[in-house]
Order: sequence, then C-alpha cells, then structure tokens
Amino acid sequence: MSNSAVSVSVFSSERTAARALAERLQRHLEANPGLVLGLPTGRTPIPLYERLVALQRSGRLDLSRTTTFNLDEFWGIGPDHPGSYRSFMARHLFDHVPIRREAIHFLDGRADEAAAECARYEGAIADAGGIDVQVLGLGANGHVGFNEPGQVLCARTHLARLKPQTRRANAALFGNDPGLVPAQALSMGMATILQARRIYLLAFGRRKSRAVSGLVKGPLTTRLPASFLQLHPHVEVLVDHSAAEGL
Ligand code: GLP
Repeated sequence: MSNSAVSVSVFSSERTAARALAERLQRHLEANPGLVLGLPTGRTPIPLYERLVALQRSGRLDLSRTTTFNLDEFWGIGPDHPGSYRSFMARHLFDHVPIRREAIHFLDGRADEAAAECARYEGAIADAGGIDVQVLGLGANGHVGFNEPGQVLCARTHLARLKPQTRRANAALFGNDPGLVPAQALSMGMATILQARRIYLLAFGRRKSRAVSGLVKGPLTTRLPASFLQLHPHVEVLVDHSAAEGL
C-alpha cells in the first residue's frame, strides 16, 4: 500500500490484527528462541498479549528464553504502583508466561537520577545484543513511547514531559483522574527505537487515523514523532479500517 517505505497491513478488526502480529512473533521466536523483544503498553497491545498468553498456554509459542525491554515508564512512581507500566505488563503478560524475571527489563521510575537511569537502560539493551523485534503502539498525537510532538526530539532514552492529552489518555491507570498521572516519564528515544532490527506498530480506531497517515506518508517532522519510523527499512504498521481512513 502506497509508495512509502513503511509497509501497511489493514485488518477487519483489532483481534485479527493482534492474531496476525502474534503469528509473526511466533515465527521470529521459532527462528530465534532467545529473541530480544521491545514491548509497549496502552490499550492497543492488550489483544496481542491475550493472544500470546493463549498461544503459550496451548504450547504453540515459547517465551521462556526471550528477553524483554519495555519502551517507557512513569517517573516518580515505583514498579509496585498499580498505575506503573511494570504493573500493567505483569497483569497483561508477565504473570501469565514463563519469561524469566531477570530477562524482563524496565526503566525505574524511582531511580535516584534520571540521566544515570537512562544510560543504564541503553547499556542493558546493548549488553543484550540490541532489540530484535520492537512492538509499538501509537499516540493519537503521533507519539511513540513517550516521544511527544514538539520542536525537538531526544534521540536516546530520556526523561520526557507529558502533554495534557497524553496524561488524559493514560488516566485509566490512575482512577480516571488525569491529575494523578505523573507529569513526566522515562522513554526510549527515537534513535533507540530505530535501532531495533524490525519494528511492528499497532494502531486502531479513527482517533489514530491522522497519526497513521502522518506516520506512513507525511513529512519527517518532530511534530509527529512516529514519522521518523519512515527511516527504518523494516517497519510494518498493522491497523484496522478506521485507523487506515487517511491512507
Ligand atoms: C501511552 C504509551 C504509548 C502508547 C500510547 C497509546 O502514552 N506511552 O507507548 O503507544 O499510550 O495508548 P493506547 O494504546 O491506549 O491508545
């Protein structure tokens, strides 16, 4: 679809897209059981995680030798806080599959010093041999991870200030009160993300259609951070019909 560098696959529903991505991950894991996976949070990947859990339970997938790195984490809350992305991942994936605890990597939102924590994370990714497959969601404003639209972007893992829209989008994790969503978060940078060997991005619903078309066929701009994914040679965007409306 289109002459963009980004390949787009359109599915009839979120569920079919999630199943298709789970199948792709299954193939990557068959070829390389020690796959290093980059993982997102948000509502979007939940059907994917459900599918991975079902495949693992029925013995059609084996996550026991994988290593994972999550994209981002809120700043100022600990891993045990129910709103943390660490807790989200435990609920939706890690509590249900046999990934070794020491192979699960997170940015620490309670670290003493943000810059040192970001450097530690970049080092851990490098020590693991880099990320083989990065799965991404997409903010309605075009953010990936917590790389928010603005005049500049940070290349590497950094402390980011969240837009009011992004705090509202994450309010469900904090009793539906955007005021309780931390104002800052740690996030892989666009260069960190672009270093993954392969990238899959999921986006569903009309709310995401403007960001999807900017990502696929817009100019590269810091006002839509996902547009930088066009620089990567192996990106597949998996969307439903409503998210594909602008293409
Ligand atoms: C958050 C996360 C992003 C995610 C986005 C989309 O802001 N930091 O990584 O892609 O939300 O969320 P949802 O999938 O709920 O629309």
